[in-house]
Amino acid sequence: MKIAVLASGRGSNFKKLVEAVKDGKIKAEISILITDREAAKAADIAREFNINVCYLPFKKFPDRDAYDRKIVSILKQEDISLVCLAGYMRIVTPTLIKAFKNRIMNIHPSLLPAFPGLGVHKKVLEYGAKFSGATVHFVDTGVDTGPIIIQAVVPVKPEDTPESLAERILKWEHKIYPQAVKWFTEDRIKIDGRIVTVEKASYDSLPVIPSLEDF
Ligand code: GRF
Repeated sequence: MKIAVLASGRGSNFKKLVEAVKDGKIKAEISILITDREAAKAADIAREFNINVCYLPFKKFPDRDAYDRKIVSILKQEDISLVCLAGYMRIVTPTLIKAFKNRIMNIHPSLLPAFPGLGVHKKVLEYGAKFSGATVHFVDTGVDTGPIIIQAVVPVKPEDTPESLAERILKWEHKIYPQAVKWFTEDRIKIDGRIVTVEKASYDSLPVIPSLEDF
């Protein structure tokens, strides 16, 4: 199975996916990294691991739809089965979503549906929430609204800053994203409307549901 990753920034989640493939935990190939930012650290990581990098500057396209049509054509050409958004800062249009229905995943650093969008950790702290976490979900046409695959919960502490909370959550992102991708490659993810179930997974214990198996 061939996987494409779309990223705009630091690329720590991308790196975890690459390492999981390299370690043989995920039996698939990460064929391409597509980025909208030339200076994205994710692109350096891709080069380090000999992964094809495709830089697509948004400015060169008339609108979002044309941009996503280009992405779809690249993904088809590369015979991609799964698209992973990993810190990808662009809104994905219906053009891309329809072409890869239930085959685009995203990771978001909150317990969705709470705190979608940007500036999540600051919003969580200002709201006074006592839990936060991370969510891997399929992408639909809304912002962070798609069917949820796996979530991890973390405590919010009185002394937290957005940075300390982000760091606590990122550790779990680095486990749940590779796990969700592994389940996908094993064809264990079943989707009924917006209800996702992972076959033979355990739904019994915190802090991660379904339970981690490999990460
Ligand atoms: C992560 O916190 C992810 O949840 C969010 O963007 C951040 C990307 O970090 N969507 P990285 O580029 O994977 O290090």
